[in-house]
Amino acid sequence: MAERFRVTYATLSDDDPRLHAGYETGVDLARTWLGATITGHISPGETEDVPSVEVTSPHDPGVVVSRVRTSTDRDIADAIAASARADRSWAATPWRDRLVIARRVAELISDRSNELAALMSMENGKNRLEALGDVEEAADMIRYYCDQMEANDGYDHPMATLNPAERTRSLLRPHGVWAVICPFNYPMALSAGPAAAALITGNSVVVKPSHHGAHTAAKLFECLREAGVPDGVAVLLPGGDEVGAALVAHPGVAGVTFTGSSAVGMSIVRDFGVDYPKPVMAEMGGKNPAIVSDKADLDAAALGVARSAFGFAGQKCSACSRVYVVAEVYEEFLASLVAVTESLVIGAPTDRDAFVGPVIDAAAVARYREAVSHAERNGRIAVGGSVLGGSTALPGHYLAPTVVTDLPVDDPLFHRELFVPLTAVAAVADLDEALRLANADPAGLTAGFFSREQSEIDRFLDRIEAGVVYVNRPAGATTGAWPGVQPFGGWKRSGSTGKAGGGRYYLPEFMREQSQTVV
Ligand code: NAD
Ligand code: ALA
Repeated sequence: MAERFRVTYATLSDDDPRLHAGYETGVDLARTWLGATITGHISPGETEDVPSVEVTSPHDPGVVVSRVRTSTDRDIADAIAASARADRSWAATPWRDRLVIARRVAELISDRSNELAALMSMENGKNRLEALGDVEEAADMIRYYCDQMEANDGYDHPMATLNPAERTRSLLRPHGVWAVICPFNYPMALSAGPAAAALITGNSVVVKPSHHGAHTAAKLFECLREAGVPDGVAVLLPGGDEVGAALVAHPGVAGVTFTGSSAVGMSIVRDFGVDYPKPVMAEMGGKNPAIVSDKADLDAAALGVARSAFGFAGQKCSACSRVYVVAEVYEEFLASLVAVTESLVIGAPTDRDAFVGPVIDAAAVARYREAVSHAERNGRIAVGGSVLGGSTALPGHYLAPTVVTDLPVDDPLFHRELFVPLTAVAAVADLDEALRLANADPAGLTAGFFSREQSEIDRFLDRIEAGVVYVNRPAGATTGAWPGVQPFGGWKRSGSTGKAGGGRYYLPEFMREQSQTVV
């Protein structure tokens, strides 16, 4: 087995040869998995012989990554019933025993990080460093949630006594079956993370991956099984949007964690829990701003913005898609951003040097074309603007990283989440105007600031409306949160609870309090 080498987003530029040798071994193994049929829970009344969706690689439409068998209504109902049955003994399992299993899952994920990352590169187009980061982020989330459970003594505490004959304790107890609905862009971290939080706290989970994350999710389930998570306690239900919708509508689901677009998330927030209040956690889209002061290190700012805007081809919820630059340094910053953007290597996600890989599908290419043509009519393309796919080297959905300027600050490109490698830059009078524009958008996920002046940094930190904020970070102006380091959750339209994944207030969201007084 190749030597294990840990990758975090903070080591994304790491050039250690061990990392690359390990990943390349993973590519060889993952290639042998291509084309597999992904099935989840199949109810006793159903067969494997139901429609499946052929998922092709964003890098090359000729490569079939998986055939995803659609879960039927019967599968869904049966999975929830099985999960509810299994949950009784899982909830009764001492929490320390649940942690032993969860920590084993984390170790298995880390042991297999190379092949899991390589599969992810083929399935959703994430480059090797980002894919390795996604896998290790999943493992570290699980470890962090285990540590939190221990640090809080399993959330079971004695309370005050008014009557000496009485003893009262407060404990947080699980809700039951959680639906875990996952996006395509973090198929390990954002399926393993919420699922593990639910499991560690004694719930059972039914996991609905995106089509472009279903194969990776099936590998995660292999780790869960091997580590000893019982059947029924964690159930995989692959399928399209309709499977997610059916899950959310099922009365047997006690809680939902959703990570995905704001439109879908808000519909779940509105519709879930009509009979009585039920927990729903929706982590949704961003329109993340970076602000560059006239007192900034402009090269660091340009690097941080480019990494955040174009990492994973702009398909991170945390991607930087609007930049407000104080007018005095606007031209100088723009020249630097254009130079960094031109230097980015576009290539197949499994290539060693590729920074920008493909976007997920033809719909993303269409959104990009529309945005570019809008920018050409209403502003200016400073760099990029072309669709690159279709060549022998880059057969799939490749787009040039693009910087757009000269648009009015209320232009839709400053407000629509596009999920493509395109960022809009505007000049502003000062930090106050930049903060006003940054906060004017209903999204509030991440934000970045570049300035060397402490009073400006304090004002930014005090006034910015976002859940995850960074100052002077060339590694990523708005991206790159790590569990236990940067709790990751949105404010306003970007998140429903304000309690962030990978943070210390996350686990209690999966439980309800019971006080028990016994005489
Ligand atoms: P999406 O909303 O299209 O789909 C997410 C998941 O929801 C998929 O599994 C999908 O099948 C399912 N789904 C779709 N319609 C549904 C419905 N009506 N009911 C229940 N489930 C339904 O999102 P995507 O394209 O997979 O991911 C990209 C989006 O996710 C972006 O908006 C991005 O910002 C967001 N995102 C947010 C975070 C965060 O932490 N805030 C993290 C990652 C991605
Ligand atoms: N952890 C990922 C980031 O911060 C979502 O970009």
